[in-house]
Amino acid sequence: MNPILVRPADMVRITTPALAEKYIESQISALREQVGDKKVLLALSGGVDSSVVAALLIKAVGRQLVCVHVNHGLLRKGEPEQVIKVFRDEMNADLIYVDAVDRFLDKLAGVTDPEQKRKIIGKEFIDVFAEEARKLDDIQFLAQGTIWPDILESEAGIKAHHNAGGLPEDMKFELVEPVRILFKDEVRMVGKALGLPDNMVFRQPFPGPGLGVRCPGAITRDRLEAVRASDAILREEFAKNGLEGKVWQYFTVVPDFKSTGIKNGKRTFDWPCIIRAINTTDVMEVTVEHLSNELIDHLVKRITTEVPGINRVLFDYTPKPPATVEYE
Ligand code: XMP
Repeated sequence: MNPILVRPADMVRITTPALAEKYIESQISALREQVGDKKVLLALSGGVDSSVVAALLIKAVGRQLVCVHVNHGLLRKGEPEQVIKVFRDEMNADLIYVDAVDRFLDKLAGVTDPEQKRKIIGKEFIDVFAEEARKLDDIQFLAQGTIWPDILESEAGIKAHHNAGGLPEDMKFELVEPVRILFKDEVRMVGKALGLPDNMVFRQPFPGPGLGVRCPGAITRDRLEAVRASDAILREEFAKNGLEGKVWQYFTVVPDFKSTGIKNGKRTFDWPCIIRAINTTDVMEVTVEHLSNELIDHLVKRITTEVPGINRVLFDYTPKPPATVEYE
């Protein structure tokens, strides 16, 4: 059993590479002691927390870790490819890649209610993960990217901690939680010291239901592709303009209505693309990041010419409250 389950009151905040190295060394021996020669299973989304957990376990127990990456079709452009490249190709991880795109999108077809969409995505994820887990022999441990704020929030009754991921009753694993006592900034520091790429370690928050909540109403493949392509352009332009890592969260939304436009002398009837860029410290209240006119003009030009189905770009100037960050 991993002995450190509670953050010691006198624990020094991990703010330097040296402190991160020290933490990594201590976790490697703790993980080796906990896991022994048994196998560990991890749902690897490519987000900061699960990526750092994977990198720590790979260092500690190598291919005794089995990572499962579920592509639910709602990830950002290039994300599944990066997970495979970083973990399978560069770190020699035992990585199972599950292409569940059709399965998720078929289940979501025609579903308009936001909470119903979230429920379907959450349940389907557990089902796919459990199916993969059942195919494996000798798994004794389940690794999770639980972090210290998750524990504090679940203790305070703010949010139910996603403990053991809601796996079926008969699937009992001992938990391995190597970043459990860390704050988010410490997880990032440890990730950097483990050699994970910056765009993984300093990634902006991304909701579990992914691009699904940025394609309001019933998700269709063409509109989802418009969200993914416009999001990729926005991220590319933010990186080029020094805004990556400075603006807290930025993304595009493609709502389910059309308006008239004109392209190459012909009438179009296409969707608008909404840009949202916000800053916050606690996500309870957010302010809008005001972009330069030049950048907005450039984004409008790129998105309307490069993304099929978009003939208009809008900028969301609304803080939270009254709006939430996401559209549903
Ligand atoms: P809202 O829209 O509630 O978003 O103002 C606040 C923060 O939470 C993220 N968010 C989610 N994250 N699952 C998640 O893991 C969700 O269903 C979800 N909904 C919103 C959102 O991206 C923002 O950072």
